[in-house]
Amino acid sequence: MKFDRRNFIKSATVLAVLTLKEMQSLAAAHQIKNEGKTIDDDDDTYWHNVRQLFPLTKDWTYLNNGTFGPSPYPVIDAMRTAQMDADINGNYGSYDETPPKIAKFVGADRDEIALTHNVTEGINIACWGVPLKRGDEVILTTHEHVGNCAPWMNRQKLHGIVIRKFTPAPTAAETLNRINSLISPYTRVIAIPHIPCTQGQVLPVKEICQLAKDKGLFSLIDGAHGAGMMPLDLHDMGCDTYASCSHKWMLGPKGTGFLYVRKGFQDTVQSYYGGGGTDDGKWNLMTTPVTIGGYAHSAHRYFGGTQANGLYTGVNAAIDFIETIGQKNIHNRIKSLGKYTQGRLLEFDGRVELLTPTESRSRCAVNGFRIKGVDYQKFFETCGKNKVRIRAVPEMGLNCLRVSTHIYNNRDEVDKLMGLIRKAIG
Ligand SMILES: Cc1ncc(COP(=O)(O)O)c(C=O)c1O
Repeated sequence: MKFDRRNFIKSATVLAVLTLKEMQSLAAAHQIKNEGKTIDDDDDTYWHNVRQLFPLTKDWTYLNNGTFGPSPYPVIDAMRTAQMDADINGNYGSYDETPPKIAKFVGADRDEIALTHNVTEGINIACWGVPLKRGDEVILTTHEHVGNCAPWMNRQKLHGIVIRKFTPAPTAAETLNRINSLISPYTRVIAIPHIPCTQGQVLPVKEICQLAKDKGLFSLIDGAHGAGMMPLDLHDMGCDTYASCSHKWMLGPKGTGFLYVRKGFQDTVQSYYGGGGTDDGKWNLMTTPVTIGGYAHSAHRYFGGTQANGLYTGVNAAIDFIETIGQKNIHNRIKSLGKYTQGRLLEFDGRVELLTPTESRSRCAVNGFRIKGVDYQKFFETCGKNKVRIRAVPEMGLNCLRVSTHIYNNRDEVDKLMGLIRKAIG
C-alpha cells in the first residue's frame, strides 16, 4: 500500500472495523510521509510515529533484527490483500513487478535479479554454479553464517576445493591486507559476507571486489544484512553476485530473497534448476529428440515455477515503505542507534568487550560484545527472562552476544539492555 491520499481515504472508510491500534497506525502512516526530506536521526516524534506502524509487541524489547525484521502494517496488509485476491478471484499470481523493483532498489538491472526464498538459496545457486576444480581455493572469513559456510564445505567434500579463512580486522585497510595476503596462484573466489552475522562489522566490499577483479577472481557476496540496512549500488560495488533477503533489514515477508548475478557473469554461473521461466522459450519437448534452446537471457535462468503472489506483493510493499521514509534516513537513524549502543557498551570501563570496530565505515546497526566474567548463555537467558530479545553467538566459538537495532527501536530500549548488563556485572 502506498501512502497516497487515495489510499488513506480508502483506508479511512474501513475505520469502523479497525482496532484502536490499527487506527493509530493509519494516523502514523500519514505522519511519516516525508516527501523526500531529510529526517534527523534523533527526531523522536517522527521515529515514534514509525514505531506505531509495527504490530511488533511492546511487551518485549526486540533487539534482534539481525535474525529477522518484523514487518509493518502496510507490508502485512499488502500481502494479505494479494493472497485474498488470488484465493477469491482465482488470479494466478504475477510476480513480474518484483525483480525490476528490487533491481532499482539495489542499483542493478532488472535482468540481473533472480527471486529466491532466502539468502541461503541465493548463496547455493552462486556457489554451485561457479566452475571450480580440485585444489582451487576459496577465501571465506572466520565469521561465516552456516549459510555461507555449508555450501563451500560441501564443495570441499565433493569437489576437493580448498577453503582459506581470514578474521576481519578492526580497520577496513587491515581487513584488505589480510585478504590480499591469503591470495595464492590457486585462489579462484572471494566469498565473504558484506556484514557478518556475528558482530555486524561492515566489510569494505567495494575494495574487496576491486581486488578480486584485479586478480581475476570471482567475488560472491553474502549480503544478508546489506539490503535495507544501507543504500546499495551493486553496479558501483562491482561484485559478481550478491545474495540477500527481504526478511531482515527490508522488513518484508519471511521466506523471500533475491540473488543478483552481474549480467556479464550469467554465462559463468551455471544454472542447475530448470523449469517454467528458466529457458529462452526455444526448448521444445514435443520433438524427438527434444530440442534444447538456451537459458533465459536474464537471472530468470536461476528460478522457475509458481511464485508466491502474496509474498512478492509484500516485497513490493516493503520497498515502498522504505522509500516512503527514505533509504538514507533509515540508514542514518540505525547507524546512529548502533553508535549509541557502542558508546553505552564502552562506558563499562573494560568490563564489557566490544567486538565490533568503532571505525565509522566499519560499523552500522549490529554490535557484538562479551561481558567479562559472565557466561554469554546465562546472560542471554537473563535477557529472555526480562523480555529483552538479543542473540547469543556460539558460531566459531565466539561465545558472544549480538544486539541489532532497526527503525522501530529507540535509545530507551538500548538503555534497558545496558541496565541488565550493569546488574550482571554487579
Ligand atoms: C550473514 C548471514 N548470511 C546468511 C544468512 C542466512 O539467511 P537466510 O536465513 O535468509 O537463508 C544469515 C541469517 O541470519 C546471515 O546472518
